Amino acid sequence: MNKTITGFSKLSKSEKIDWLVNNYFSDPQSAKIVIEQYWNSDKKLQQLHDEFIENTITNYYLPFGVAPNFLINDKVYTIPMAIEESSVVAAASKAAKFWFDRGGFKTEVISTEKIGQVHFTFDGNAEDLDIYFSHVIKQKFFDQSKHLTTNMEKRGGGILEIELRNKTDVLENYYQLHATFETMDAMGANFINSCLEQFAKTLKQEADKSLTGNLNIVMSILSNYVPNCLVRAEVSCKVEQLTEDTNISAQEFAEKFVQAVRIAEVEPYRAVTHNKGIMNGIDAVVLATGNDFRAVEAGVHAYASRDGKYSSLTHAKIENNIFTFSMEIPLALGTVGGLTKLHPLVKMALELLGEPSAKELMEIVAVAGLAQNFGALRSLTTTGIQEGHMKMHLMNILNQFEATPEEKVTLVEYFKTNTVTHSAVVSEIEKLRR
Ligand code: MEV
Repeated sequence: MNKTITGFSKLSKSEKIDWLVNNYFSDPQSAKIVIEQYWNSDKKLQQLHDEFIENTITNYYLPFGVAPNFLINDKVYTIPMAIEESSVVAAASKAAKFWFDRGGFKTEVISTEKIGQVHFTFDGNAEDLDIYFSHVIKQKFFDQSKHLTTNMEKRGGGILEIELRNKTDVLENYYQLHATFETMDAMGANFINSCLEQFAKTLKQEADKSLTGNLNIVMSILSNYVPNCLVRAEVSCKVEQLTEDTNISAQEFAEKFVQAVRIAEVEPYRAVTHNKGIMNGIDAVVLATGNDFRAVEAGVHAYASRDGKYSSLTHAKIENNIFTFSMEIPLALGTVGGLTKLHPLVKMALELLGEPSAKELMEIVAVAGLAQNFGALRSLTTTGIQEGHMKMHLMNILNQFEATPEEKVTLVEYFKTNTVTHSAVVSEIEKLRR
């Protein structure tokens, strides 16, 4: 067995798989079958996926589902969602239908500004740097990055502002160029990073020529914290309209719901789980539309701690007998560039959404998050979460026990009126098979 290798990335795909299965698996042939059964029979399509990353050996499937009946700013959407968690799409669809009958979701993009920074050190005089920055180099950053910004400017975007920030109070000799960008329908990571690297080059050249002291570039990179790329989503209705299939009154439900949100506002242990539920909806749409869910996650959670304490992303209130449930979150998304034209499913997802602009996608994604949180809190404050979760998880348990189609029909029927637990399902399967 040889668990290390040099030059792995240079091997062909089948050589990589052979090395892998022979060195890591007790039954190489079975491992190879699992890997190869996920290959697409369309060779061109498979090659496209192979080339997204390095060392691709196979594809990793996630269910791609849709949640219909979302009414957002009076327009109807069917929202694509890529996610493995069994209850998420069902909860989204249920919340969509519920609010469809109560005026739908209202959304608004508040701002669309993105941020990037050049981090550098300087051991000379801070005032000299400041004067030199404002009077000499600032304009040069714009001028010398023209070759990068012309196209973005034609689309209405570009560099908005570049500031010099003195951070020497937190770290010796540490300064930043803090730049803001408008990237229109692109997520903008490549655009921003290219501009920043150009700023860094300009800064170093100019400083070496004209400043006394050593200036060294540490790194140039966009920030995934985008508190000024913000979208708001909201639902509201009269309290009495909140009744549905729950066995508590509308007033009691509304009050319990608001209390549940308040708990998430003040209690970080709850806030993390509360926000995780929001991200169930957000990530699923972000993923289905080919966007970077890690960037979104990082930025959203930082935003949830913006006041120095991790808190709920959503808020709820009852005022003058009106129940309002809302959320503001930062979302840096793109509907052009990246995988959007490349990945056939992403293309399909964007067409399903009516080829939205990045702003419209921010609104749709925020709604998916708010809807998910509504669904979770509605279950938590009424029936409890396990009833719905376990109903949705039933099929996973049945598949784990390789239930036949007939067994599935019988057991799904049985569990319509009985509580699903892992042991109850096992015991019913055993009964059937006796
Ligand atoms: C599970 O994926 C998400 C929930 O825990 C969210 C919540 O507790 O609000 C149900």
